[in-house]
Parts: sequence; structure tokens; C-alpha cells
Amino acid sequence: MSKEIKEVPVLRVQNLGITFGGLKAVDSFSIDIGKSEFVGLIGPNGAGKTTVFNLLTGVYMPTEGSFYLEGQKMNGKKTHQVVAAGISRTFQNIRLFKKMTVIENVMVTMNMHMSYSLVSSIFRLPKYWKQEEEARKKALELLDIVNLKDKADITAENLPYGQQRRLEIARALGTGMKLLLLDEPAAGMNPTETSELLDIINVIRTKFNISILLIEHDMSLVMKVCERIQVIDYGVTIASGTPEEIANNPKVIEAYLGKDEEEGVALC
Ligand SMILES: Nc1ncnc2c1ncn2[C@@H]1O[C@H](COP(=O)(O)OP(=O)(O)O)[C@@H](O)[C@H]1O
Ligand SMILES: [Mg+2]
Repeated sequence: MSKEIKEVPVLRVQNLGITFGGLKAVDSFSIDIGKSEFVGLIGPNGAGKTTVFNLLTGVYMPTEGSFYLEGQKMNGKKTHQVVAAGISRTFQNIRLFKKMTVIENVMVTMNMHMSYSLVSSIFRLPKYWKQEEEARKKALELLDIVNLKDKADITAENLPYGQQRRLEIARALGTGMKLLLLDEPAAGMNPTETSELLDIINVIRTKFNISILLIEHDMSLVMKVCERIQVIDYGVTIASGTPEEIANNPKVIEAYLGKDEEEGVALC
């Protein structure tokens, strides 16, 4: 028996599903993700990828199946409970506090771990300042990882697109998660930004020892970084395996070429 099978997986998803008005957006979705494993979730537009993330983060309640974080059942938990338990995500459409500075954007995600009381915070008592100072230091470390340390005091909306995406990742890291869900982080990026993102993702993975589930349209990116890939189409898993197995799987090729022809999908 391999080591991974004996250990409780970081994420275990069993037959998760949801139906929207007759449409089965996700159907019997199952996956195990081990500690510091990097798994890709791919599929044509509308396949149900973002819906999987919405199910895993308490945005939608599954109509069937269940999922566990380190053995703890997570179905029915609210988003803030899921985040507190250790699942964090970035969004397909960037969601930042646009009017706040870069560092403030990271610090707000860290606030939930602070233990000063409301009274300490209102009266700015020493405990408040000590924790704020520590949070600032930690936020700067996270910004350093995504190469945004020198942009700490810039208003978020003034960052170029690629940097806003990286700020989203720093925000997710601020929650101190065990599992990071990345929804198309390279969307809209140019090749230089994508390659920088790839380096950052690899640094994050080794430094934080976290598990990652990545949704990505850029196949070359998925093939480079993921150890395993799962493919869904019409909400149903049609393949899972190593990048090589996926690139050569006829069902996968058909699912992509059948619907995404105009995007010129190259699988490797
Ligand atoms: N809240 C919702 N209500 C109704 N249909 C939805 C909702 N969210 C997603 N869907 C539908 O579920 C399917 C999968 O969507 P999505 O998960 O966003 O696909 P992907 O991320 O793979 O492109 C689509 O047909 C979409 O229209
Ligand atoms: Mg999506």
C-alpha cells in the first residue's frame, strides 16, 4: 500500500453533485488530494469546474455526496467556516478590495486569526498594536513571495492586471490554508506574466507545503505544474491521470476539440 493511501488525504471528495433547475452541473465528482499534492482540474467551458470550487467552499450546498478536509466532514459548512478549517480560493474574476492598499488587502484576510478583543482594537491597546505589527510583517513576507513587496502601499486598483492576480494569491495565503483552490489564475495574462505566475506557484508549494487544486485553461501551464490531472465534461469526470496520460487520452482530446476548436487547444 502506498504512503498516500494510508494517510488521511487533505481533501477527500466522494460523489459530490449539484443540480441547477434540472441541469446536473456537477455529477458524482470524486477526488483525493494528498499532502502537498498539486492536482489540475480541467475541462471545456461550462464543464462544471468553478461549480466544484463553489461546492468545496460552501457557496453552494451539494445535492449529493460529501467531502472531507483532513477527515473532517465539510458538507453544509458556511464559507467562513470552510476558510477557517483550511480551504482557501482565488476567483476566476478578481475580487480585491480595490480602494485598499496592497498590504491592507492581505492583512484583512489575516484578521480572523487575531485574538485581540474589540475593546483592545477600539482603544488601540498594546495587544492590538503588537498583533497588527506582526500581521504587517507576515503580510510583507507573503507579498515578497508573490513579488509585490515593493508595491505594499499602492492602492490595489492601480496595480496592473497580472499583479492583481498575484495579490489574490497572497490574500489566499494570508488565511493560513491547507488546501488552495486556484480558479484560472493565468486567465488574461501574457506569456511573461504566466511564466512568472508559474514560478510563484512552485515557490508557494514548496514553502508552504500545501495542497493545490488548479483550474486552468492554459494547458501548457497545467501540464508543467500538476502531478495529476482530472478532466470533467458536462459535470462528469471523463479522465484522470498524469499529464502524459491526459494529453494522450482520446476522450479528452475529443472533449476539447469538439467544443473549443476556435481556441486552438494544444494539450502539451
Ligand atoms: N448558480 C447557477 N445557477 C444555474 N446554473 C449554474 C449556476 N452556476 C453554474 N451554472 C451552470 O453550471 C454549468 C457549469 O458552470 P461552471 O462551473 O461555471 O463551468 P466552468 O467553470 O467549467 O466553465 C454551466 O452550464 C453553468 O451555466
Ligand atoms: Mg469557471
